[in-house]
Amino acid sequence: MFKKIRYRLLFSYLVVFASLLGIFALAVRVAFTRSLTQQTTDRLIAIGQGAAANAEFEANRLTIETDFRPQNLIAAHQALQWFDTQGHLIAQQGQTVLTLPLLPSKMVQVQGGESSALDGLRHVDKVRIQGVTVPIIASDNNHLVGYVRVSQSLEEFDETLQKLDWGLGGGIIMTLVLSGIGGILLTRQAMQPIEDSFQRLKQFTADASHELRSPLMAIKINADLALLYPEEIGPKDAEKFQAIASATNQMTRLTEDLLFLARTDKVPNHNWNTLNLTLILENLVLLYKPQAEVKQINLISQLAGNLYLTGDSVQLTRLFTNLIENALYYTPSGGVVEIKTSRIGSQVYVNVQDTGVGIAPEHIDKVFERFWRADRSRSYWEGGSGLGLAIAQAIAQNHGGLISVTSQLEAGSCFTVRLPSVSS
Ligand SMILES: Nc1ncnc2c1ncn2[C@@H]1O[C@H](COP(=O)(O)OP(=O)(O)OP(=O)(O)O)[C@@H](O)[C@H]1O
Ligand SMILES: [Mg+2]
Repeated sequence: MFKKIRYRLLFSYLVVFASLLGIFALAVRVAFTRSLTQQTTDRLIAIGQGAAANAEFEANRLTIETDFRPQNLIAAHQALQWFDTQGHLIAQQGQTVLTLPLLPSKMVQVQGGESSALDGLRHVDKVRIQGVTVPIIASDNNHLVGYVRVSQSLEEFDETLQKLDWGLGGGIIMTLVLSGIGGILLTRQAMQPIEDSFQRLKQFTADASHELRSPLMAIKINADLALLYPEEIGPKDAEKFQAIASATNQMTRLTEDLLFLARTDKVPNHNWNTLNLTLILENLVLLYKPQAEVKQINLISQLAGNLYLTGDSVQLTRLFTNLIENALYYTPSGGVVEIKTSRIGSQVYVNVQDTGVGIAPEHIDKVFERFWRADRSRSYWEGGSGLGLAIAQAIAQNHGGLISVTSQLEAGSCFTVRLPSVSS
């Protein structure tokens, strides 16, 4: 139980931490990309302005100054293109030119990273190119005379981003692994006191139940002894002794149940045997037939051939006794209680179905709780203690199985026990 809580705690902690790290990494990446893009654009604008200053507009034609050497302005991964106002290419310099048509309204253009059709053949441009368009304004009349488009390969930019991604991804994984290890240690430390106090509480219940056994036995023996000689005590006193004996019986059962629950996960399973479950159930049906007949309940069984499983026969008998007793107790006269078994894959299923009072939907989750009983008004001594199903569940879980219930008020309930089987 504590292992499960510990894992759930660790998992929630890691999910929260991973989400925070993810948000942080995303924020860093967005901020870094923005700043890098801005830097690149600014650099290209500066180059574009330099190139624009070296363009001349003479005789209605855009020309580049003869003493201007564009290769001095740009680096190897950059290129320059001059356009007239209609967007016709006049001159270009450099390798990494944009092949997209000039769009004066769009200052920044990015090409590549996807398929493009340069020479009629579709192929993928691995390297992205960014272009920035700068207008050329004639210095004498302030008229627009053309455009300069500066482009730059984004290879370096993408490489930098890739490195950042690797760095962030690696960092997140490393941090998660380290915080996972830290989390294991921390949750273990945090759960230890709770685990200890739970064990102490369990031990206390076990000890108290154990210690109560002897005085209860003494009361019972004395009450039974007194009842052996009713002539020595008056009829009124005999009634009192009867009540004492009956109450002692109930208390003995209750202490036995508490002791059993306190010890369930301490039960050593090295002396478990291979058992024939069909045989156990057949014996129980025979045992409860007379009780069912007295209450005019039709107790029927549909037991599949020999079903084998490994376990403790006393515990398993107790599990099914609790279910059958409940079914008989909570089913009125004339009803039917049916016990069915089946095997699906490596699992054995036992259904104990009745046509009894049923369980309200809002109570169905509570039936396996210790001391929970639907009819609280009923006197404690009249029925059981409300531990029967808690014990059944503990036994099923102890055997690596599960117990579940479906029920409808006034129609009946069906308790299903799933247990791992062994091949016969
Ligand atoms: N077959 C059933 N039909 C209707 N209600 C049921 C059935 N089995 C259990 N319940 C409800 O679940 C409650 C808990 O059952 P559980 O067997 O744990 O306790 P109990 O029968 O009251 O007492 P105990 O079994 O300890 O003698 C019961 O009090 C009853 O309200
Ligand atoms: Mg019961």
